[in-house]
Amino acid sequence: MIRLTEVGPRDGLQNEKSIIPLETKVAFINTLSQTGLKEIEAGAFVSAKAIPQMADSDEVIKRIDRAPGVIYSALVPNEAGLDRALTAKVDKIAVFTAASETFNQKNIRATIKESIERFRPVINRAKAARLAIRGYVSTAFHCPYEGAVAPERVLPVIEELLALGADEISIGDTIGKANPDEVRALLELTLKKFSAVRVVLHFHDTYGRAIENALTAWKEFGVTGFDASAGGLGGCPYAPGASGNVATEDLLEVFKKQGAEIPAQSWAAANAAQALANHLDHPLRSRWAKSNEPHG
Ligand code: HMG
Ligand code: MG
Repeated sequence: MIRLTEVGPRDGLQNEKSIIPLETKVAFINTLSQTGLKEIEAGAFVSAKAIPQMADSDEVIKRIDRAPGVIYSALVPNEAGLDRALTAKVDKIAVFTAASETFNQKNIRATIKESIERFRPVINRAKAARLAIRGYVSTAFHCPYEGAVAPERVLPVIEELLALGADEISIGDTIGKANPDEVRALLELTLKKFSAVRVVLHFHDTYGRAIENALTAWKEFGVTGFDASAGGLGGCPYAPGASGNVATEDLLEVFKKQGAEIPAQSWAAANAAQALANHLDHPLRSRWAKSNEPHG
């Protein structure tokens, strides 16, 4: 069974220039909740100055209709973010750091070491509140400021987050530049120490290799956790040049044709993104949206 986390409401929307109305965000999450996807990253409790598009995450999460069996999560950078997450009653939080210092400094204004220390009380308190915990390691293959990142720099960050108590690690190809050989090199090292069930892969699709990378991780290494974003939305304001995440509908199509069991419908994810299209200042990036084929 493939475990897909839909990150469109967070990674997808955080990078949009146009103002997306609150009710449109709520409707987007509600539609995604009916696609069969079991986990939705619904927002981010970060500084509104850093990411203005996520400033209304508290209200968005308060207003959504929670579907039974769906996990709703949010990004949390510090204890102030955790306070908001607890008030909003999310099921899961995601702390986030990186494998390269320059990106981390620009993104969360901390060294990698400082960020780990900042997460310690966050994770302890989240565990006491029985929340599930994800740890993101961004720039795990390439950094927009430092270039290629060796797997040996990524593994210690994964180890630290797991040692702090994270349940799973989402390994981020933040600028969508990884290729299958780089995915193999990192997974060979990581899976010598940790089980594949603790690992999720988060591919942006700047160079069109996200699906190939995901297939490599699944078929060759047995990784079953992937992040994807309806419509191929996504990016990070602190990662210049990065394009969207792999599109949920595209990943579903390819994986299902390869025999994967995933309890979600590609057309439903595509429709959820389509409903958002009028609010964006660019066309949807999924291959599904770009194709002229009638989809059923
Ligand atoms: P800082 O400036 O060092 O923080 O930012 P601070 O503690 O000094 O506070 C500065 C101001 O922010 C204060 O407000 C705080 O109250 C406020 P002021 O007094 O100036 O009015 N503040 C907060 N407000 C609301 N919620 C909070 C919060 N914390 C502080 N939780 C900080 C440090 C981490 C807060 C900031 O840099 C930040 O929020 N960064 C978030 C950046 C971000 O969200 N980036 C995108 C997500 S990461 C990503 O996209 C990658 C990923 O997809 C994986 C991949 O692709 O690789 C996950
Ligand atoms: Mg991302």
